[in-house]
Amino acid sequence: MKKVYLETYGCQMNEYDSELVKAILKKPDFEFTNSADKADVVLLNTCSIRENANRKVYNRISQIQQKRNGNGVRIGILGCMATNFRKQLLDNPQLPIDFIAGPDSYKRLPDLIDQVEETGEKGFDITLSEFETYSDVYPTRESGINAWIAVMRGCNNFCTFCVVPYTRGRERSRSPINVVEEVERLSAEGFRQITLLGQNVNSYNFEGKDFAYLLQKVSAVDGIERIRFSSPHPKDFPRNLLEVIVENPKVCKQIHLPLQAGNDRILKMMNRTYTSTEYLKLVDKIRGLCPEMVLTTDIIVGFPTETDQDFEDTYKVMEQVEYDSSFIFKYSERPQTIASRKLPDDISDQKKKERIVRLNELQKEISYKKNRSHIGQIHEVLIEQESTKKSANQYQGRNDGNKIVIIPKGTYRKGQFVNVKITEATPHVLKGTVVDTILK
Ligand code: 5AD
Ligand code: SF4
Repeated sequence: MKKVYLETYGCQMNEYDSELVKAILKKPDFEFTNSADKADVVLLNTCSIRENANRKVYNRISQIQQKRNGNGVRIGILGCMATNFRKQLLDNPQLPIDFIAGPDSYKRLPDLIDQVEETGEKGFDITLSEFETYSDVYPTRESGINAWIAVMRGCNNFCTFCVVPYTRGRERSRSPINVVEEVERLSAEGFRQITLLGQNVNSYNFEGKDFAYLLQKVSAVDGIERIRFSSPHPKDFPRNLLEVIVENPKVCKQIHLPLQAGNDRILKMMNRTYTSTEYLKLVDKIRGLCPEMVLTTDIIVGFPTETDQDFEDTYKVMEQVEYDSSFIFKYSERPQTIASRKLPDDISDQKKKERIVRLNELQKEISYKKNRSHIGQIHEVLIEQESTKKSANQYQGRNDGNKIVIIPKGTYRKGQFVNVKITEATPHVLKGTVVDTILK
C-alpha cells in the first residue's frame, strides 16, 4: 500500500478538486497520510493565477527535495501549474518531479502513479476535456457544516490577464439532476450550507437550464439552509437570476462582483465586456431589489498602461459602491494569456504597491464603517467552528452576508443557527451575544 500526501494551493475549486482526487485514489493500493515526510507519493495541487502562487509551489518542491533526498518519494504536480508549466516542470533535471496531471486528468492518477513505479519514467496527462465534469465521482470531504460543489468547470471569457481558460479549458456544466443528487447526499450527511462553485458560475447552462433554475432546484433540498455561489461574472446577472437571489430565503444575500478596474479603457483592454457605467447600473439594480445585499469584489492594480488617472477611476468606483470587502491584487503577467503576448508589463512594482496600499486603506475604512453600522442589529448566524483565537473560549460563525461573527461559546454547538445581537465591530469581524437559538 502506498502512502499519499496531498497539499492544495489556490482557490476553492482546487480544494474541491483535491476532494475528488482523494475519492479517485480511494483504492486498496493507496492510503492518505498527513505527513509529507512519511509519504511514498507527494501530490501538490497547484495554482498559477498569480506569480506568487507559483513561487510557493517551487519553494515547497525544493523543501521536500532537501528533506527527502534519496528517500524514495514520488512527487506529482496536479492542477493549474501542471497545464501551464508542463515543459518547465518535467524537463528541468533539477526538479524531482515524477508525473503531472492537469485538472481534467485526475481519473488517470492511479495509472500515472503505477506507471512511474513500474517504468521509472516520468508521466504526464494534461489533456483538457470539453466534457469532464467528474459528475460520477463523489468527493471525499471532511465531515462538517459547509460543503463546496462544482457545478461547472472551465471558462470561455478570455479576460486578457487570466490564465484560467488555458489551465482549465472550456466551460461545461453538470446536469441539474446530478447536482441535486449530490446536494441531497450532503444534506443526509449533515451539511447545512453549500457553496456552488464554478470559474464562471453564473454562466452555468445545462441544455438550456440556467443558473437561476439550478439555484431554485438546489434550494428545494431539505436540510440545506444556506446556499452561496462563487465566482460569478457581472455579465451574467439577468433579472430572473437576481430575483431568485433576492427572493429565495435560502440563497444568501451576498454577491461577489469582480470589478477588476474602474476605468473604461482598461476594462476594454482586459476584455471584461462591461463599462464602469454598466457595472454601476448593475450595482444599482441589485441594491434597488435588495438594499442590504452584501457586495464584495476583486480588483487588479497596475494592469499594463494603467496611468495614475486611470487608477483614480478605480478608486472612485470603490468609493461609490462601498463594498463590504475586497481582494486587491497586483497585476502579474501569466504565460499564454493575451496580455502577456500583446502588452508589456510596464507598471513598476513600486507603483503597483502604492496603488494596492491606497485601495486597501480605503477598503478598510469602508469595511469598518459598514461593520459598525450593524451594531445593535440582530443577525442570524450559523456557528461554524471554535474561534481562531484559541484562548478565547468563543465560537465563530457567519451571518447571511458571509461576515464572520464571534460569540461566547455558551452551550451552543457547531452547525446550529442562532440569533446574535451585534455589540462590537472591527474592519474584519463582528462580535455579539446570542439572543436565541433558531430551530432549523
Ligand atoms: N494578475 C493579478 N491578478 C489576477 N487575477 C487573475 N489573474 C490575475 C493576474 N494575471 C485576479 C482577478 C481574479 C482573481 C481570482 O484573481 O482579480 O478575479
Ligand atoms: Fe488558481 Fe485559477 Fe487554477 Fe483556481 S482556477 S487554482 S485560482 S489558476
